[in-house]
Amino acid sequence: MIKSVRGTRDLLPGEVERWQLVEDTARHLFALYGFREIRTPIFEQTELFERGIGQETDIVSKEMYTFIDRSNQSLTLRPEGTPPVVRAYIEHHLYRAGLAKLYYIGPMFRYERPQRGRFRQFHQIGAEVLGSEDPAVDAEVIEMVFALLDRLAVRDAALLLNSIGDSLCRPAYIERLRNEIGANLSAYCQDCQRRYHTNPLRVLDCKLDTELVAALPAIVDYLCPACAEHFAAVRRYLEQRAIPYRVQPRLVRGLDYYVRTTFEVISARLGAQSAVVGGGRYDVLSEMIGGPPIRGYGFALGVERLVELLPAEATAELEPKPQVFLAPLGREAFEFCTLLAKRLRDRDVSAYLDFPVDGERSLKGLMRLADKLAAHYVLIVGEKELAERRYTLRSMRDGSQTQVTEDELFQALTASREQPCKQ
Ligand code: HAM
Repeated sequence: MIKSVRGTRDLLPGEVERWQLVEDTARHLFALYGFREIRTPIFEQTELFERGIGQETDIVSKEMYTFIDRSNQSLTLRPEGTPPVVRAYIEHHLYRAGLAKLYYIGPMFRYERPQRGRFRQFHQIGAEVLGSEDPAVDAEVIEMVFALLDRLAVRDAALLLNSIGDSLCRPAYIERLRNEIGANLSAYCQDCQRRYHTNPLRVLDCKLDTELVAALPAIVDYLCPACAEHFAAVRRYLEQRAIPYRVQPRLVRGLDYYVRTTFEVISARLGAQSAVVGGGRYDVLSEMIGGPPIRGYGFALGVERLVELLPAEATAELEPKPQVFLAPLGREAFEFCTLLAKRLRDRDVSAYLDFPVDGERSLKGLMRLADKLAAHYVLIVGEKELAERRYTLRSMRDGSQTQVTEDELFQALTASREQPCKQ
């Protein structure tokens, strides 16, 4: 039997409703903030990610799903959503339409070692604001992230914040970093020894040399006046919004496009893969991929991880239950029910009709299935009911039964939709 691919998951009914809750809540909230949805292709030219994310990052150096298609182009399944959004923004001149706030929902692909909370196909909900470097953008987007978590009743997540400077102040910091690392180079892992030459900032992401990294100088101490002022303003705006944060000086994030603000939202309940949201400012990404200077800032959250954080109360009663389960006894009644089901659905009533598999189910079998599906009512249609055009409507909550005409049935079910009977 062929199985699903390692690092991918099937989302089954039962769990999928939790995803829909997250997606619906995000769509609704993001619209309040003026964001519009964008859907970009699942694959892009490889160069977009190589240039946008950076050759030395883990994503580009070892995690991309890259393939050559039949016309010999190198294409890559998107490992994240930011470079595609910036590409589309430029390609379609979205700034002309005043569209600067965009969000996306969809699968991303990274060849990582699968473990709890880490998949090879995973899903992100992300939002990007293009065009402004104002620190109010940085704070508003973080505010939106916390508003989303709050609406989903996730209240134990912590914000880690940093500023990693810009092209003016970062070179001096990198020089200092290189000197420090160089003085003790042989103590570092192979990857870091290479990064020391190619991009020393990436050493700060190292998962192995954590003790050495902890002793390295902090980038916030090297910010130029403009970056320091920007960071101070972001912090002030967060404080005005009563959003608590912790400055985390080693939070450089695993992508090369970031400047100034970087942030993550973490939860201790997630285990080793504790980041549920990651984001930051990327004022030079557009130029890295050959576009005009366009500033940008945004975040992406991991849907698998956020769904794991949803409290049970927030997701109780999410699974759809049929309002009425049709229980025909005999072929003639079944055929009548196929048409009755349509008349009910036309009135917006959810009617469940089971199709015979090996002959017809007995009334007992039908009742058992209605119970499994947690139907609110069962409508029994036997020969007698068909002849009299009065059907037996049974409440699954209290077992009471009444005889109803079709009109009475519609009335009863429309009324029950307004006051759904909880099981
Ligand atoms: P990222 O930190 O690479 O940032 O990913 C954001 C979030 O996606 C993570 O915090 C995590 O929840 C989830 N995630 C990442 N990799 C995996 C995985 N292998 N399995 C499960 N979940 C995962 C970005 O992708 C940036 N594009 C964020 C951004 C948008 N920055 C600016 N704008």
